[in-house]
Amino acid sequence: MRIIKLDAIDSTNTYLKKLSVAGNAEDGLAVVAKFQTNGRGQMGTVWSSQEAKNLTFSVFKDVSFVEVSQHFYISMAVSLAVHEALNSLGLTDVKVKWPNDILSDNKKIAGILIENVIKLNVISGSVIGIGLNVNQTDFNDLPSASSLLLLSGHVHNLEEVLNTVLKQIEIHFNYLQNRQFKLLKSKYESHLFRKNKPSTFKNAEGSLFAGYIVGVSDIGQLLVRVEDNIIKSFDFKEVTLMY
Ligand code: BTN
Repeated sequence: MRIIKLDAIDSTNTYLKKLSVAGNAEDGLAVVAKFQTNGRGQMGTVWSSQEAKNLTFSVFKDVSFVEVSQHFYISMAVSLAVHEALNSLGLTDVKVKWPNDILSDNKKIAGILIENVIKLNVISGSVIGIGLNVNQTDFNDLPSASSLLLLSGHVHNLEEVLNTVLKQIEIHFNYLQNRQFKLLKSKYESHLFRKNKPSTFKNAEGSLFAGYIVGVSDIGQLLVRVEDNIIKSFDFKEVTLMY
């Protein structure tokens, strides 16, 4: 698999999207940068990462076999790939906070930004951006962030971590290509942060309510059991888990 290594770029996602639009991205192509000047997070947020301490990279996957209605399975496959990679690097207690934040010891260690290219109702390609905190130790303005070094107690080799994640991405996209949807969903749900635990949520109007996460729907909504045993489903913008 080809890996393009850059010293600095605005955003590896933006760079790889341009390559794919120009027809220059093959399945599995990865772009990794030591530093991003305009790292992007979910919902228009900024992703900051200290230079050469962490992994900021994007991978192009041909997902033409995935229907638009199944797009959340791409997200599940990527979350599980990062989860398994961190497990194999020795981290325990790794959880997936819906939809695709990766936590360990209740702190965020990796974020995922997936940008799909949709043509004629099929997702032709997916640009999968991953920011994984590896050897950074100070997160002054982000008290709920952590890194592999802080959690494992030792420095990690960035290339080794990158190869571990890329290998897991291939494994989990094979599940996807082989239409092992049930397997992906049950694995994803088994690692869901605060599943079956009493939790507090904030809705889009800002009101708090109590409930239990019970799983996710096929289209990626969060399923929450609220009072009177009613199961409610929420889209990404409709609910925030308070923790
Ligand atoms: C999030 O949790 O908000 C998602 C963060 C995703 C960050 C990665 S870093 C590599 C890739 N390039 C970007 O600009 N963003 C993603």
